[in-house]
Amino acid sequence: MLNQNIVSAQTKILGIIGHPISHSMSPVMHNIALSELNLDYVYLAFDVLPKNLENALKGMKALNIKGINITIPFKESVIPYLDIIDPLAQKIGAVNTIKLQDDIIYGKNTDAAGFKKSLSEAQINPSGLDVLLLGSGGAARAISYTLIDSINRLAIINRKKQNAEQLVSRLKKESNSPIVAKKLTNINLKSEIKIADLLINATPVGMYPSQHDSIINPNMLHRDLTVIDLVYNPLETQLIKDAKIAGCKTLNGLDMLINQGSLAFEWWTNKKPNTSLMKRKIIELLS
Ligand SMILES: NC(=O)c1ccc[n+]([C@@H]2O[C@H](COP(=O)([O-])OP(=O)(O)OC[C@H]3O[C@@H](n4cnc5c(N)ncnc54)[C@H](OP(=O)(O)O)[C@@H]3O)[C@@H](O)[C@H]2O)c1
Repeated sequence: MLNQNIVSAQTKILGIIGHPISHSMSPVMHNIALSELNLDYVYLAFDVLPKNLENALKGMKALNIKGINITIPFKESVIPYLDIIDPLAQKIGAVNTIKLQDDIIYGKNTDAAGFKKSLSEAQINPSGLDVLLLGSGGAARAISYTLIDSINRLAIINRKKQNAEQLVSRLKKESNSPIVAKKLTNINLKSEIKIADLLINATPVGMYPSQHDSIINPNMLHRDLTVIDLVYNPLETQLIKDAKIAGCKTLNGLDMLINQGSLAFEWWTNKKPNTSLMKRKIIELLS
């Protein structure tokens, strides 16, 4: 009989790699769910310097680490070190979950499906909406692929305009909907927010310890806008606070975090985690 509190010679290892990593809530939510199911795994956070990424992946095989979540800044740069990548992750160009099986490393993207599930749980239907996406990194790419089939128009505003343009040219291969790339300026934000139904922040702006920062001047927000911030630490970012005051419907990044984590958990262990327990634990820690 397995004792859930004992790490033994049979215990299997899961984890997350990123840099920095000390802010991550993934170890907390995975370990509590593993423990509840009495599964003999432990989930650890590894702070990997970018120059050591290749060695970290070699280490996964050498040490028989069963599964790893990939976070900033490795969601794209990890791809060359994987053996098999699923078609959606390939299309998105970002991998957030990898699994080792029979000495083969498989990669997939659970951010996309996790985001989609969080929208439907919050009863936000993106069909026919004009969407403004802030950012064009790994998270923005994942969610834009889930949106382009159904929305009316997508505007992507990014600090480095060429990164938004690259994403737009990839998306245009998948959809005939109007998709535009713009540089992050107040003029562009103002004109795009005015016509948007849904605003999504997929940048780290507003994340702890810079929780008072927001890209958006509150005067630009209007009550017909739904505002989603992928940031979950703090649970209520400055953007979400401003949006609530402006009368917008809002959603933070917590449900997406839980959903993407739950899909990874199930892929690694073939068991469904208790997502309510995971969520309660994170809220307790972040409140
Ligand atoms: N809730 C969840 O489950 C979940 C899942 C994934 C990600 N996230 C969150 O989403 C955010 C983005 O993650 P990611 O993986 O996409 O990161 P990423 O690949 O590093 O991309 C970051 C994006 O944010 C922009 N950016 C960075 N700093 C900025 C600043 N100071 N001002 C304006 N724009 C800035 C970057 O613009 P440039 O191209 O100009 O550098 C880029 O477009 C993070 O806060 C992450 O925690 C949440």
